[in-house]
Amino acid sequence: MKILVMNGPNLNMLGIREPALYGREDYAELVRRTKAKAEALGVEVSFYQSNHEGDLVDRIQAAYGQEDGIVINPGAYTHTSVAILDAVKAVSLPTVEVHISDVASREDFRQVSYIRRACIATVMGRGIDGYGEALEILSEYLKGRKE
Ligand code: DQA
Repeated sequence: MKILVMNGPNLNMLGIREPALYGREDYAELVRRTKAKAEALGVEVSFYQSNHEGDLVDRIQAAYGQEDGIVINPGAYTHTSVAILDAVKAVSLPTVEVHISDVASREDFRQVSYIRRACIATVMGRGIDGYGEALEILSEYLKGRKE
């Protein structure tokens, strides 16, 4: 089982960026911890981060026929991007949305999520461990589909 873990804009700034909201761990630590969780679950993971909407769309398209599912934190594009939503719909891969912070208790403009319409679940407010939780949800879902 192959899962793509994607991060959008400014998530490369983890550790530096607003630590009270996003924590002190950096992107490398996010990758390390999520890989450890993937190993424990017996799933193969690849990681991708970009600050550019079109690059995120390209990577989602490239997952078609190559990966079995997607864990995605689109960052600010969560609240604006129809293109990323359409890309996930186009490849029709089971997808879980992740947010490090609890977006539900933040500003009004963060209450809209385009990507959520194409996702089987959302994990929010769990820090970087939320990626591991998302992997677990997705791997259970994919296993259920194969049985
Ligand atoms: C975020 C929440 C978004 O509102 C914000 O723009 C981000 C990070 C999160 O992980 O909590 O960049 O997706």
